[in-house]
Amino acid sequence: MPLYKTITVNKETSVAIWKVEETEEHLWKGVELTDHCQNRFNGMKSDLHRKAFLSIRHLLALYNYVDADLEYDDNGKPHLKDGNFISITHSHNFTAIIISESEEVGIDIEMQRDKILRIAHKFTPFEEYRTLANTAAIIRKLTIVWGAKESLYKIYGHRGVSFLHHINVQDFIFNAGRTTAQIIFNGQSSDYGIKFLEFEDFTCVYAIKNKN
Ligand SMILES: CC(C)(COP(=O)(O)OP(=O)(O)OC[C@H]1O[C@@H](n2cnc3c(N)ncnc32)[C@H](O)[C@@H]1OP(=O)(O)O)[C@@H](O)C(=O)NCCC(=O)NCCS
Repeated sequence: MPLYKTITVNKETSVAIWKVEETEEHLWKGVELTDHCQNRFNGMKSDLHRKAFLSIRHLLALYNYVDADLEYDDNGKPHLKDGNFISITHSHNFTAIIISESEEVGIDIEMQRDKILRIAHKFTPFEEYRTLANTAAIIRKLTIVWGAKESLYKIYGHRGVSFLHHINVQDFIFNAGRTTAQIIFNGQSSDYGIKFLEFEDFTCVYAIKNKN
């Protein structure tokens, strides 16, 4: 069972990461999907996507949840029926969830890729990155910032929020493994704590909304 990592963020919030190495048949063991999820599953063309989807159900099981405990809203955002907060991500062979009893949470895993250099100007003021030592460091930093903004988007979820104009991620050093972020949209602001970790050329970022 390739549970890759678990992180106790605080008393009420946990992260779990899965590295998908099993066959689809193996991943079906112990998993039962709701009609909604079975329909979605049937429409998935890539076996990596199907396996990622099933692996998430194994991560849920770690916290004693089954697929039927999950409900998707019209935007595709997952909710736990018991009122706890959840966020889900998959990227290639890594998948992860964050669950919290008390705080709104978002999570994102991204593969570190050169491609991010080409789209960076769309989501962050790129000139701020020029002081970094080398291209590899710039890619790492951009991937963290992108992951932070995706995580915030998963919490906030308002159409019209611009990654470039409405979400600000405070500068950070890699070793800190954390930063903060703010969304300012429609005259209102909200604040978030961000944590990140890197493994096997992937970056995992998660965000927790500050209580006001
Ligand atoms: C919805 C979105 C956040 C998903 O992120 P992604 O990196 O494509 O994919 P991930 O694997 O990390 O996340 C997928 C999971 O996010 C969750 N999700 C989907 N829509 C969501 C939403 N509106 N809110 C919160 N979570 C959502 C789901 O759990 C989904 O997995 P599942 O359906 O298998 O359970 C992303 O597609 C998106 O729309 N981002 C905003 C785009 C944007 O504004 N970009 C600006 C670029 S400058």
